[in-house]
Amino acid sequence: MKGINRARTGLAGVVATFTVLALAACGGGSDTSGDGGDGGDEGGSDLIRVGFSQLGAESGWRTANTESVKESLSEDAGFDLTFVDAQQKQENQIKALRDFVAQDVDVIAFSPVIETGWDEVLQEIKDSGIPVVLVDRTVDTTVDDPFVTWIGADFKAEGTTAGEWVAENAPDAKIFELQGTLGSGAQVDREEGFGEVVGEQIIGKASGNFTRAEGKTAVEAALQAYPDMTMIFTHNDDMGLGAIEAIEAAGKVPGKDIQIVSVDGVRDGLQALVDKKFNYVVECNPVFGDQLAELITKVADGEDVPKETIVIDKAFDQTITQADVDARAY
Ligand code: AHR
Repeated sequence: MKGINRARTGLAGVVATFTVLALAACGGGSDTSGDGGDGGDEGGSDLIRVGFSQLGAESGWRTANTESVKESLSEDAGFDLTFVDAQQKQENQIKALRDFVAQDVDVIAFSPVIETGWDEVLQEIKDSGIPVVLVDRTVDTTVDDPFVTWIGADFKAEGTTAGEWVAENAPDAKIFELQGTLGSGAQVDREEGFGEVVGEQIIGKASGNFTRAEGKTAVEAALQAYPDMTMIFTHNDDMGLGAIEAIEAAGKVPGKDIQIVSVDGVRDGLQALVDKKFNYVVECNPVFGDQLAELITKVADGEDVPKETIVIDKAFDQTITQADVDARAY
């Protein structure tokens, strides 16, 4: 992008305020980026050159988030996006980030698969002067001021909301917690929020890595290890849908014999709620590409941005209707 001023896009321009922005939904996706393409802007156009490292495609949430990001960071909207899917591997993300530095993009954005292990590459990016926008998940690093701004959900509040529903509606439940990718911000914070409210009811935990297949496997084992469980708190819908398969295969009724409290609110998850197989779903809204595009534009232009933008979440119980599910954008 012509005229970009790295000195001004650095961390000095950041306003450390806390803003809560309502989420504006946007429509279906468009694919204007390459997977590991050159991301070049050789023509000297005014497009903002963005390197985006998405952590994977592990869930319905992630698919919706990728579509939202690609649609909002389109060429028509003024971006030259290089999008790379890391397939849930941190080493792939680190390689992509180093490639973005080598390409000298205007802004680097990424969703870190786990919180730790970024010190070296974040220092390299900082030394390059390229501003970083964190998306969805957070990092735990020794690097000073490693990113300009972060946009994502309040994972701890999501866990707390789930815990409060359990405390009110199932105070005697014996809970198995189906964790997301261990060490990810979404796992760490949801577990903390939930545990602070109903930790004494948890009888066992295991990770399903945020995927349906691994969620099913984890619940198959849990049904053997914890035969007295009456509830599963799953860190995302996909693992909960895998749990349904495991519970039904064991001859039990999901939503009755074993209640399921989930996070995300993708269409399949809300359908499970309508079908009375899920009991409660805390939303984690993935459609914030438009807000991300606005932040990246400001960062590239050296304008002040808030340090954090929290995407607003809702929650759903079994009063949700089929019409609500059918109207769901993702
Ligand atoms: O970081 C957000 C989480 O990642 C979503 O809850 C989950 O579905 C995804 O894999």
